[in-house]
Amino acid sequence: MLPSVLQPNETDHVPVLAEEVRLSLSVDPGDTVVDATFGAGGHAAVLAEELRGRGRVIAIDRDPSVRPYFEEFRRRFGVQSRFLRGEAADVLDRLAENGVQADALLLDLGVSSMQLDRPERGFSYAVDAPLDMRMDPTAEVSARDLVNDSPERELVTIFRRYGEERYAKQIARAIVRRRKQKPIERTGGLVELIRAAIPAPARFGDGHPAKRVFQALRIAVNDELGELEEALPAAFEMLRPGGRIAVIAFHSLEDRIVKRYFQRLERGCVCPPDFPICVCGRKPELRRLNRKAIRPSSQEVAVNPRAASARLRAAVKS
Ligand SMILES: C[S@@+](CC[C@H](N)C(=O)[O-])C[C@H]1O[C@@H](n2cnc3c(N)ncnc32)[C@H](O)[C@@H]1O
Repeated sequence: MLPSVLQPNETDHVPVLAEEVRLSLSVDPGDTVVDATFGAGGHAAVLAEELRGRGRVIAIDRDPSVRPYFEEFRRRFGVQSRFLRGEAADVLDRLAENGVQADALLLDLGVSSMQLDRPERGFSYAVDAPLDMRMDPTAEVSARDLVNDSPERELVTIFRRYGEERYAKQIARAIVRRRKQKPIERTGGLVELIRAAIPAPARFGDGHPAKRVFQALRIAVNDELGELEEALPAAFEMLRPGGRIAVIAFHSLEDRIVKRYFQRLERGCVCPPDFPICVCGRKPELRRLNRKAIRPSSQEVAVNPRAASARLRAAVKS
């Protein structure tokens, strides 16, 4: 029997923008589908349905605790499937080196509901738990390490850059003052400290006062933007010509990286705009399926508030 924290929950499976992902990736029977951020397998289930029993699904995730979800997925769908644990970029590189080509590839970025809802993972500001936030529990650096060991200036940069936190300076200063007395070990302690560090009116506006700092720490702990920068070319490399890629981002920093990557590959030519003719000879490498990111409908957000910030971009490889 698995410990209860590893038991799949019904609510873990609600995939964001599921119908839009299904339409964008346009999976056919016999295809090779790569879900590079398997999570609870919600999107993988939607895509596997499209295979109608023929084809294969390669599931990737850096979090080993998704394995029970994969086993459940495997039992449910009669398609060939395997789970590869690791960083998406590394695993995709390895697959490409071994000649595997994807017809459809999904990156559903960020943290999963399963990770957020398991208090012991330390992602949530809503419950008191050890300050961890590692998607891969074997990774070297946790949120506790960052909070207790980073120089004050680095904390300010993390809170500003990844959380757009207005009170980054005040919060970083309060952290450094507190940790001189004793290490900050738990999410609850950090939340209290943030509350006390920001001006009283800010404690009640624009969501939970710790939301932005927690987001920033999570992005830094898991090097989410660096990973995305590496995962996009690795994903593109292993797509077959005519294959499709879809990426769901949950904040503007991620979305900007996806948007620029797609735009650059779609442009092809890199000659300066004042050149009368193209001399670089580069051709467009992909075609975007939508100019603008696809956002969830108000109905979807009403049912699944976590979808609110999702943005989907998709493209076809030339
Ligand atoms: C938003 S969830 C995916 C949810 C999934 N689409 C579903 O329907 O259940 C993101 C998952 O991707 C994993 N992940 C995030 N970044 C990753 C990366 N760079 N490499 C591998 N896995 C990653 C996380 O551990 C998490 O399980």
